[in-house]
Amino acid sequence: MPSFAYVNRQYVPLREAFVHIEDRGYQFADGVYEVCLVVSGRLWDIDGHLARWARSLAALSIDAPISDRALRIVIAKLLARNRLKDALVYMQATRGVARRNHPFPLQAVLPSIVMTARHFDLAKSDSMAQMGVQVITAPDIRWGRADIKSISLLPNVLAKEAARRDGAVEAWLVRDGCVTEGAASNAWIVAKSGALITHPLGNEILGGITRQTLLACVRDLQIRVEERPFSVEEAFGAQEAFLTSATNLVMPVVQIDRRAVGDGRPGEVSRRLREAYKERCVSEA
Ligand code: PDD
Repeated sequence: MPSFAYVNRQYVPLREAFVHIEDRGYQFADGVYEVCLVVSGRLWDIDGHLARWARSLAALSIDAPISDRALRIVIAKLLARNRLKDALVYMQATRGVARRNHPFPLQAVLPSIVMTARHFDLAKSDSMAQMGVQVITAPDIRWGRADIKSISLLPNVLAKEAARRDGAVEAWLVRDGCVTEGAASNAWIVAKSGALITHPLGNEILGGITRQTLLACVRDLQIRVEERPFSVEEAFGAQEAFLTSATNLVMPVVQIDRRAVGDGRPGEVSRRLREAYKERCVSEA
């Protein structure tokens, strides 16, 4: 069965899914995206993802290509067409197609929208979480608006590639000696004091939706949390570390730059938080 994509109001087989070469997303990375997780046919954290989608579009003055209501219908139809119950849904909107010129087009153009969905294996993710993953550190060379979920991702791509070459799954980005976040996830440590530490919201990081929901779990569990930058040294000396994203949920980190975190195995706090996050999403989806 071929995979289907959604492209500008049509469902088309993936191999026939194309956009115009003068789409501003293709030429200028002038667009935004979201990645949402679907488990057993239910969208996790969808309200948060749609709110951030709207914020990213507004920050770049791109009109919403379709309403949130329509977007939810498209997601459901795309999942049905692809016969997917557990999936990662990718949606992208760009300013649209116009003759190449840096400023926004003078004539109104329709924003473009595309969506794809692919199978997500939760059991595989769970077994990865049992082993824990490795990360490397890399300089954070991104622009000053990392809070916008823009499709302009070259620094993230380069950092991820460096991680892959080192046998790691993620790169923790470092600015002024502190970890801002991962190339495609948020970064957390559990200090020796037991407090959770993660970079505060602001222009320097993407406000992860998983991060946001996990903070609610953390409050329920009455775990102390400090939203502040932490240094690479602090991370090396942490009791535990983990990362969060729609694609990883809560994923224990057992090595940073090949140095063991804690005893080199996934920690108890990370394990509890992964469970708490899953339970919350299941009950709210
Ligand atoms: N990335 N920080 C960055 C830079 C990200 O790209 C992501 C998500 C996150 C976590 O956000 P969330 O919890 O809402 O997934 C943080 C997606 C998964 C991606 O680019 O594939």
